[in-house]
Amino acid sequence: MARMPAVRTVHVCQQCGAESPRWSGQCPSCQAWNTLVETVVARPTTVAARGRQRGALTALPVGTISPITDVSSAEAQRLVSGIGEVDRVLGGGFVPGSIVLFGGDPGIGKSTLLLQLAARLANARGSVLYVTGEESAAQVRGRAERIGAVTGGLGLVATTELSTALGAIESEAPILAVVDSVQTLASDALSGPAGSVGQVREVAARLAEAAKTGRTCVALVGHVTKEGTVAGPRTLEHLVDAVIYLEGERLGSTRLIRAAKNRFGSTDEVGVLEMRSDGLMEVSDASRFFLESEQPPVAGSAITIALEGTRPLAVEIQALVAPSGGGSPRRATTGIDVNRVLMLIAVLARHAGLNLTGHDVYVNVAGGLRIEEPAADLAVAMALASSLRERPVRAGTVLAGELSLAGRIRQATRADRRLAEARRLGFETLITGTAHGGGADRDVHLVTATDVREAVRLALEVA
Ligand code: TYD
Ligand code: MG
Repeated sequence: MARMPAVRTVHVCQQCGAESPRWSGQCPSCQAWNTLVETVVARPTTVAARGRQRGALTALPVGTISPITDVSSAEAQRLVSGIGEVDRVLGGGFVPGSIVLFGGDPGIGKSTLLLQLAARLANARGSVLYVTGEESAAQVRGRAERIGAVTGGLGLVATTELSTALGAIESEAPILAVVDSVQTLASDALSGPAGSVGQVREVAARLAEAAKTGRTCVALVGHVTKEGTVAGPRTLEHLVDAVIYLEGERLGSTRLIRAAKNRFGSTDEVGVLEMRSDGLMEVSDASRFFLESEQPPVAGSAITIALEGTRPLAVEIQALVAPSGGGSPRRATTGIDVNRVLMLIAVLARHAGLNLTGHDVYVNVAGGLRIEEPAADLAVAMALASSLRERPVRAGTVLAGELSLAGRIRQATRADRRLAEARRLGFETLITGTAHGGGADRDVHLVTATDVREAVRLALEVA
């Protein structure tokens, strides 16, 4: 390693910022435990930086300052992969010179997705590099054969050395470099093992630098730990331009992608993919995808039109209410906050006369989706009421509205978009709350209820 730069490292406390030359379990300054992380000391390399060190002022090169009136806002042309769900979540494709972190549980499909993206872009746009530290080149080739990703213009580099990866990116200058994964590469400037906090951060920082200087887009793969953070520390997130999570239940085939951070787009969009034997495929009608049950409707099921980013999705909420065998009743949920469900149970008891005190309650969002928005309240409450009463929600009905503690229903935001989606899918009725400022909509398909008792009547009882 003749080119290896003489770098110095220190151990920086992540809590108080104190530096120590050696690692120790406890910070000598603030006494916190396990907070020291080995970090490369940045060497001043520019003329200006060296000048600053000497305490001298340096004359700025001509052109350093641009009048804002002369700066163009047009961004570089994005790399559009053609996998629409991914492009949309990215904000319209990859931005050249940016670094994007793809996080997710082991086995969820990160390598598969990135190999697909790599092959698509190699085919359509130019040379792409796939750096694999986790698997051998032969293993990657094997996967590529299964998913149809063997294509000219896609180069493989099997290495666990950061310097090799950086060298390949510099000499090849690809439009996209996939690095799989951040936990398997290591810089020889640091003594810590690959995957340690200091290494992970150094790898990401150096790759971000390489992306910017070479106008290459770097797609960095990172495993999520059980605590839900990428590579242990959340601190990795500020080093990259976007963080995209791939999620889903491992045994199910649905995969959702969403941005936790995106400098070049919204973080509200969600992409829906399906894991097949030949890779991750786009779902042709994502909205229908989250509807599990067949008509006629069964007791304990209610459908809401959720808004995920700009996209409306019809989602089925399933509830099971059963008498508990003594002791404290169970309340378990998948895909929805259990505290929200506890609140809805209380609202149903107080304002609709539906008492679930002696019942176990299970609520599930179909298709592995996770719902955060309060507009799903009404559908959850009606699924619970439906299961308790053993009576299905009326056929052709969807629900969207937020419930207040007083049992009032507030109309869901952007009710018009939800209504349009309900129509497109062939539903006849959307039950929601009255819009802010009253004034019920007279649309025949839009039925408004003011409170939860009225909603139960409208949703469950025959007219
Ligand atoms: P992988 O992309 O290796 O996951 P990650 O990189 O996130 O750890 O995918 C792992 C799983 O996906 C593996 O259990 C097999 C399955 N799979 C498919 O179902 N279809 C496919 O076409 C491929 C390549 C993998
Ligand atoms: Mg992998």
